[in-house]
Amino acid sequence: MDFTRSAGAGFFFADWRDNCGSMPRAVVAAWDSDTDTYHPVGEPAMTLKIATEDDSNTPPFSMGSLPDQYHALVVGSSGTIGAAMIALLRSDPRCGSVRGLHRHSHPPLDFADEAGVAAASSELARGPRLNLVVNATGMLHAPELMPEKRLADLDYAHLLAAFQANTFGPALLLRHVAPLLAPGRGLMAMLSAKVGSIGDNRLGGWYSYRASKAALNMLVRTAAIELARTQPNTVLVSLHPGTVESPLSRPFRGVASARPAHDAVVDMLRVLDRLVPSDSGAFFAYDGSRLPW
Ligand SMILES: NC(=O)c1ccc[n+]([C@@H]2O[C@H](COP(=O)([O-])OP(=O)(O)OC[C@H]3O[C@@H](n4cnc5c(N)ncnc54)[C@H](OP(=O)(O)O)[C@@H]3O)[C@@H](O)[C@H]2O)c1
Repeated sequence: MDFTRSAGAGFFFADWRDNCGSMPRAVVAAWDSDTDTYHPVGEPAMTLKIATEDDSNTPPFSMGSLPDQYHALVVGSSGTIGAAMIALLRSDPRCGSVRGLHRHSHPPLDFADEAGVAAASSELARGPRLNLVVNATGMLHAPELMPEKRLADLDYAHLLAAFQANTFGPALLLRHVAPLLAPGRGLMAMLSAKVGSIGDNRLGGWYSYRASKAALNMLVRTAAIELARTQPNTVLVSLHPGTVESPLSRPFRGVASARPAHDAVVDMLRVLDRLVPSDSGAFFAYDGSRLPW
């Protein structure tokens, strides 16, 4: 028997494989939320619940609003959130293809190379129309570039790097990739950040990152207005993933509350799956709430 402990819905499960290869699950401990303690099953007052795989309340992930065998593209698939998104989309039986592009992919996609972005897009144009595009690129810090705490920290090097990664490159994607969306149903999301919200800015600091994401949000809003006329079934949004465990968030205090990328990606794709054309041009968080500009 091969026991694996895993947490789920207040219960700890022991999984084992029998000789037939099936995998029943049994509860071996349960969580008491009042006292925040785990009780081994068998202690007095505990109710034994035998669970099977069929009891799981979590439906398998699928982008149900997209056509069967839909085609997806994730830009920035070398990043933490981008890679998790590729993995989740590949697990969806309704996904016909998912392609990832990044600085070292074939073709490469580097926002420092304007002609290269156009060339990569031309290659994409030879493939099927895209039902889902997620841009998961972004830059908050780099070697010798930590987010500015005060005006005196501002300089061109940081501003240019942040705007190239967070604004100019995504603008090129809007130009070259939005026309490749499928006419029937096409979702395009630009990963933005809540700290790019002007209305929500109470702490200050992080000038380049905040400003570059605010500018990205303006590009998304402006492009959505144009696309509503030219591609009326397209839904284009800015999307905040929440705080996610990644190299981008690692140096900062908020990382204590960061979530695994997989969890954020499940939430974000569920939000995207529910969107309709009248939602286009908005700024959403991973939980489906609308964020202020
Ligand atoms: N993690 C969080 O807590 C958090 C919170 C709010 C918003 N976000 C947003 O979510 C997105 C993904 O973040 P993440 O946590 O997954 O970050 P990450 O792991 O650092 O990944 C960043 C991705 O962006 C790519 N990239 C950076 N600069 C680029 C450039 N100039 N040209 C092309 N690609 C570039 C990286 O490529 P390389 O692999 O080649 O470097 C990598 O694929 C970003 O837009 C970020 O602002 C994240």
